[in-house]
Amino acid sequence: MSSSSSNVVIDRLLPDNWAEGQMRSDMLQALTSTPKRLSPKWLYDDRGSELFDQITRLPEYYLTEAERSLLVKQSPHIVAEAAKHGISTVVELGSGTSDKTTTLLDAFWEADQVKTFVPLDVSEQTLLDAANSLSERYQGLEVHAVVGDFTQHLAKLPAGPGRMIVFLGSTIGNFFVEERRALLGAMADTLQPGELILLGADLYKQVERIIHAYSDSAGLTEAFTKNVLDVLNREFDADFSKDAFDFVPFWDPQENRIDVRLRAQMPHRVSVRDLNLEVDFGEGEELQIEVSTKFKPEQLAAELDSTGFELVTTWLADGPAEASHTPPQPDFGLFLARRR
Ligand code: SAH
Ligand code: AVI
Repeated sequence: MSSSSSNVVIDRLLPDNWAEGQMRSDMLQALTSTPKRLSPKWLYDDRGSELFDQITRLPEYYLTEAERSLLVKQSPHIVAEAAKHGISTVVELGSGTSDKTTTLLDAFWEADQVKTFVPLDVSEQTLLDAANSLSERYQGLEVHAVVGDFTQHLAKLPAGPGRMIVFLGSTIGNFFVEERRALLGAMADTLQPGELILLGADLYKQVERIIHAYSDSAGLTEAFTKNVLDVLNREFDADFSKDAFDFVPFWDPQENRIDVRLRAQMPHRVSVRDLNLEVDFGEGEELQIEVSTKFKPEQLAAELDSTGFELVTTWLADGPAEASHTPPQPDFGLFLARRR
């Protein structure tokens, strides 16, 4: 269904009964499999999106400011590359508030290089608020907001002309290796040869710094993670108790990723009435919530290459100088690639 107000067009690709349909089958599978593993997209109801927004302002959560400062510095270069490739449509996946994206869009706007902005997100209210404020900021820009799931709806994106897919915030890191490959492959399938992708990715670095970003002293990451239990309680009349689980973020050195889990403190049973389910947790049993992969630049370049992209440019942000690292390790990367 499509609707519009001013120059904001809204495409709703998620059915009204999304929670009853996809969330139901997803949650049923997640809670009955071994190990129990949720999909991170269910973290972003209105409250989850608000908590994530607060996380991005935490001093420990270096990712957002690192990416913002890279965008401030490199946006004119990104726009220059986009101009060479005939880009006039910017598509942002998992756009959230599109806060940092305004830095990039400002540069596009000043260069008169963008006609349409297409933000896509599952979190409807956050998306619509962002779309309205962007359409006020850039008078005359067509904002085509898509309430959708980027793991399912890429083929339904507006056809262009001249698209650049922007995928910021290191959201690409929240996918397992095979899922990431499928997602990059689906982006390549969607784009025409010569169209672009701009990926923002958090980089592998001193592990302590990474762990701090996911175990903040304000407890916001714990609240963000446990909010998914509220989602389950609300949507499926469940009786999860947040106090019955410990928040356990740990570093997985094999996969170079943070792995966030909720661990049952004691054996207990949870009723999920709307799913007709009684879920038993053993002592110490974990509910897997989210991974956040930290990339080596050459690894991501190889993944882009093997999924149909040719790397155009990589811009790296220096991390803080550490006595133990000279020169400092790069903190965050922007990877611009063209569809082959
Ligand atoms: N791009 C923003 C927000 C990152 S948070 C930034 O850089 O700060 C991740 C965003 O992706 C959230 O807004 C969430 O709602 C959205 N998201 C997660 N899974 C999604 C999916 N499968 N389809 C569409 N949006 C998704
Ligand atoms: C959206 N995504 C990239 C965030 C991350 O860092 O992996 C989500 C997040 N989880 C805990 N803190 C932030």
